[in-house]
Amino acid sequence: MSRRALDELGLGPIWIRRDQLAALARDAAPEEAQDEPAPGVVIPRPAAPAAAATAGTPSPAATKASRAPVVVIPDARTRAAPQADIKPAENERSRDIAAMDWETLEASIRACTACALCEGRTQAVPGVGDRSARLLIVGEAPGAEEDKRGEPFVGAAGKLLDNMLAAIGEKRGDGVYIANVLKCRPPGNRNPQPPEVAECAPYLARQIALIRPTVIFAIGRFAIQTLLKTDAPISALRGKVHRHDETPVVISYHPAYLLRNLPDKAKAWQDLLLLGEQLAATKSGD
Ligand code: URA
Repeated sequence: MSRRALDELGLGPIWIRRDQLAALARDAAPEEAQDEPAPGVVIPRPAAPAAAATAGTPSPAATKASRAPVVVIPDARTRAAPQADIKPAENERSRDIAAMDWETLEASIRACTACALCEGRTQAVPGVGDRSARLLIVGEAPGAEEDKRGEPFVGAAGKLLDNMLAAIGEKRGDGVYIANVLKCRPPGNRNPQPPEVAECAPYLARQIALIRPTVIFAIGRFAIQTLLKTDAPISALRGKVHRHDETPVVISYHPAYLLRNLPDKAKAWQDLLLLGEQLAATKSGD
């Protein structure tokens, strides 16, 4: 990876103080084991008519954004993740969520007691940014700092994410919305559990339906597996444009993982370039 690319990602200091890096990475998020099994939960298709109309119909921009090769489950490694016991699309709660407007949705997330994560949270973290964003970034779950401040990606991983966005000329809040698969912090930053993902999935589904982004950037295995319905490792999925329903999805490693794994930063840079291409295609109306 070139020095320039590292600088653009804001990764220069990492080469200087490994002890500081270790501390940052420990605080940022749980270990990202790339080849662990999927959480086994899929995002439901919105059930309400309004949601179905928005999520099911590709926007002209999204259609134009598909200049890069679009791949839907490329090989046998990308087998479907097993379904969770809870099937949000089929219950009344998820149907209600699929019909919510932004205000009701955020209030519902903040008051949610659907799983035990509500017991340990300071506050729920619905998401932040432009509600008409072209780019939706989906991460894993709030960490300690996010739980305190009520905003996604404000800790060490968030700083790296902001640098990654800046490297492709994008900025949090300006045409960008940031959300997580889970809206509440798992204790000790442990991995999300399948029932937790299942309970939270309708919220992310509704956010996607309301925003109607032209590109989704899924970072980390939980976001990727949840959106793409696959338990394939990131290494087998990256480098291609996938789809969640009709929306192009570019994937990459979680920034917290990148803070600890220098060799994979070169791959993240490639992923960012692919994301930038998708966004440029959308902007130019190709
Ligand atoms: N990691 C995530 O996946 N999301 C956050 O909001 C913070 C850290």
